[in-house]
Amino acid sequence: MLEVKNINQFYGGSQILRDVSLSAAMGACSVLLGRNGVGKTTLLKCLMGVLPVKSGQIFLDGKDITTLKPYVRASLGMAYVPQGREIFSRLTVEENILMGLAVVKGKAASRIPDDIFEMFPVLAEMLHRRGGDLSGGQQQQLAIARALVSRPKLLILDEPTEGIQPSIIKDIERVIKMLAQRGEMAILLVEQYYDFAEALADHYMVMSRGQIVKNGLGKAMQADNIRNFVAL
Ligand SMILES: Nc1ncnc2c1ncn2[C@@H]1O[C@H](COP(=O)(O)OP(=O)(O)OP(=O)(O)O)[C@@H](O)[C@H]1O
Ligand SMILES: [Mg+2]
Repeated sequence: MLEVKNINQFYGGSQILRDVSLSAAMGACSVLLGRNGVGKTTLLKCLMGVLPVKSGQIFLDGKDITTLKPYVRASLGMAYVPQGREIFSRLTVEENILMGLAVVKGKAASRIPDDIFEMFPVLAEMLHRRGGDLSGGQQQQLAIARALVSRPKLLILDEPTEGIQPSIIKDIERVIKMLAQRGEMAILLVEQYYDFAEALADHYMVMSRGQIVKNGLGKAMQADNIRNFVAL
């Protein structure tokens, strides 16, 4: 589904990503772990086209998307849940979710699919509240819902557990697991919370100083001592 080949990226003179290659397969959850500041978010911004890459290539379904604009990538089936959620705090929950339909054409563009509220019942209860009135965990669920309404082929999540209460982390874990098992999308999850990452990973990668330094099967994470590579 997603294939990344030898990405290099710089902020000014400092190199942030070094020859990053990775892939994310359909029906699987691929997890990228790494400590603060190693370049995880920078990589995701490059994948979405928010930041240009200096060199390297990004393929979606075999198509080279390296130079496409972010909205084109979204219309091709890429959805992004940014770090810190970035929901619209003055819009209602419903309006926030509808924003996710901006890239959808035709009849499906005006209706929120029912399964969104099955995944996140709290959003149905809070439909007419402002995004800013929700708790951090509810906002994270809203950000994921906004990404899912466009029926993406690739769902990219940047640290969805950051600053969120444990009960909601469990709810989000169940939803991501179900989405991976459904087999209709590839999931690329960036995380620092080890237990959550291990519970979800079919495949893992570890980033350190802009490089992928280790990777393997999710079920080998414990044996490979991956907990030592992250802060938690
Ligand atoms: N807009 C920017 N301009 C210059 N440097 C930046 C910019 N954004 C990030 N950086 C630097 O690039 C490096 C990688 O940052 P990035 O946000 O990708 O890390 P991260 O792995 O996502 O960290 P975290 O776990 O804290 O979210 C850091 O040293 C950071 O200070
Ligand atoms: Mg980050």
